[in-house]
Amino acid sequence: MPQINGSTELFGIIGNPVRHSLSPAMHNAAFASLGMNRVYVPMPVNDVAQAMSGLRSLGFRGASVTVPHKEAVIPFLDELDPVADKIGAVNTLLLRQDSEGRTIVRGFNTDWLGANAALAAAQVELRGKRVVVAGAGGAAKAVGFGLIEAGAEVVITNRTAESGQELAQWLNSEFIALDDLPWLTADVFINTTSVGMEPNTEGIIIPPHLLSKFSAVMDIVYAPLETRLLNKAKTAGCRTVDGLAMLLHQGAEQFRIWTGVPAPEQVMRAALEEGLLRRTICAVCGSFLR
Ligand code: ATR
Repeated sequence: MPQINGSTELFGIIGNPVRHSLSPAMHNAAFASLGMNRVYVPMPVNDVAQAMSGLRSLGFRGASVTVPHKEAVIPFLDELDPVADKIGAVNTLLLRQDSEGRTIVRGFNTDWLGANAALAAAQVELRGKRVVVAGAGGAAKAVGFGLIEAGAEVVITNRTAESGQELAQWLNSEFIALDDLPWLTADVFINTTSVGMEPNTEGIIIPPHLLSKFSAVMDIVYAPLETRLLNKAKTAGCRTVDGLAMLLHQGAEQFRIWTGVPAPEQVMRAALEEGLLRRTICAVCGSFLR
């Protein structure tokens, strides 16, 4: 922990729930490792308008935004990064003073970079490759957008056809039903749904025998770190990328936006793993007990 004093710069995460967010452990470890007098705190927020005026008046320098406020926060910004505008969601705020002392809040989206950077770090080639994305929520939208930016051909699959088709249309890509996966050939498979997450760790979004046709498989679920999907993918000989990798890389980009320097990724990854180990999950209700 830094010595908190009058010069400490404030950062944090707004959302609900945020009590069990791993972002404070990740960012505080990063600040501390570079000797930065900065602190990052979880802030449970229901009213976005009030939270935004609070961040401004309390002199915060930056914040993460998480569920359910990633879209709702946009009307309260002074500036919006063009990519965040296109995706329609913001997960990062940067606050600065203009020449007249007014606070300017700019919104960014780093989620879309997280999956790309995680795959790149695992040496998974995307350009010209066919990538199946399971899911049609906010995570699928950011991941799909990033994949197309990286030159991949995206195929969306989802339990509910309507939302899957809607996302596929937005991405200008193809939709296939989960039941049709046996007839699809592709290079990479990415799960963006919560299937397989504790306590329902037996869940798997794709029949395991289909995994051998992919060269790489990524899961955005990180509790457990090795999901059943990743376990079966390893057995099938696929390269695997876990959910902490995406969390790490979207966080590394946030760190760069806030500080202007490259993120200490190894320190951040270690903090995420330690944070994950410290959490206890209720086997009955699935929520985090501490
Ligand atoms: P996020 O914004 O975090 O991506 P979300 O908007 O709740 O979360 O999206 C969750 C995704 O996981 C959806 O695509 C959902 O499928 P539906 O559109 O059919 O609801 C998918 N999902 C969640 N639980 C699932 C399950 N048990 N089986 C299959 N898909 C599931």
